[in-house]
Amino acid sequence: MAQAKVRTAVFPVGGLGTRFLPATKAVPKEMLPVVDRPLIQYAVDEAIEAGIERLVFVTGRGKSAIEDHFDIAYELEQTMGSRGKDLSVLAPTRFTPGDITYVRQQEPIGLGHAVWCARHVVGNEPFAIFLPDELMVATPGCMAQMVAAYEKVGGNVVCGYEVPEDQTDKYGIVEPGSIDGELVEVKGLVEKPKLGTAPSNLMIPGRYILQPEVMRILETQGPGAGNEIQLTDAMAQLIGQQPFHAFKFGGERYDCGDKAGFAQANFALSLEREEIGEKLREFARARLR
Ligand code: G1P
Repeated sequence: MAQAKVRTAVFPVGGLGTRFLPATKAVPKEMLPVVDRPLIQYAVDEAIEAGIERLVFVTGRGKSAIEDHFDIAYELEQTMGSRGKDLSVLAPTRFTPGDITYVRQQEPIGLGHAVWCARHVVGNEPFAIFLPDELMVATPGCMAQMVAAYEKVGGNVVCGYEVPEDQTDKYGIVEPGSIDGELVEVKGLVEKPKLGTAPSNLMIPGRYILQPEVMRILETQGPGAGNEIQLTDAMAQLIGQQPFHAFKFGGERYDCGDKAGFAQANFALSLEREEIGEKLREFARARLR
C-alpha cells in the first residue's frame, strides 16, 4: 500500500543554546556556521532533498535571524548584482512565500511541547521532525533514506544511531525488537535513561517521521525527564497502536549541540571542501606532529 507522502517538516529552533554562550547571546545557535553555512541550512537542505515541501520553524524570542536567513536580503542582493557577483550561493535560502511558516513556542518547556506548537500547520498528515543540532552527513541524506524506509513500512520511523554505552543517558534510546537489515522494530522508547539502565545503545539522533496522532498525545503529555514535556514519552504511547521502526543510519553524525561535536563537524566538513581541504590537512599534520 502506498504511504501518505511526508510533505511537512517541523524544525524546533526555540532552544536557548546556553552551552555556546556567549556566542549564542545575540545569535541563535542554529545560525552558528559549519564552514560557511549555518547549521539550520544543513537540516533544511536535507529536508528538501527528501521531498519535503513545507517547513515549519518553531521559534522563540531572539531567533529572528533565522527568519531573515530564509528571506530576501535586498541590499545584499542588489549590491552583489550590481558588482556582477554570483547570487546562486543564496539559492538554498530562498523559498516560495507560504512554504515556510513560523510558530512561536513562547516558553522552552520541552521538545514535545515545541512539536505540539506546530500541530495546526502540520494538520492530519505524517510529518518529519529535524533537530538541527544534529548534523547528519550521507548520500543520499539521512531523511531521504528514512523516507525510503517509511515508504516500505509506513507508520512511524525514527532515526537510530549507535553510541558508546556511557553516552546513553544523554539521549532518547530505543528498546529494539526484531531486526530486518537497517530497520529495527521499536518495542519501547526511553528518554535519557540513567547510565546502566538503557535498553540498548541505539539513540535517536533528531530525525523523525511521525503520524499526526502523536499531536493528540502531546496535547495532554505531562513533564518527563528533566521536567520537560518529552517527545520520546509521547512517541512511546504510539507503540503497539501503529507500526514503529528505527532506521539505523550508517552515515556520519555530528552532535553540534556539543562543543567537541561542533568543532569536529567544522573540521571534517572543511576537509571535504576543495578550496580549503588541503590547507587544513597541512595545518593538522603540522599541529599534531
Ligand atoms: C533531544 C531528544 C532526544 C534526542 C536528542 C538528539 O534531547 O529529547 O530524545 O536523542 O535530542 O540530540 P536534547 O538534546 O534536546 O536534550
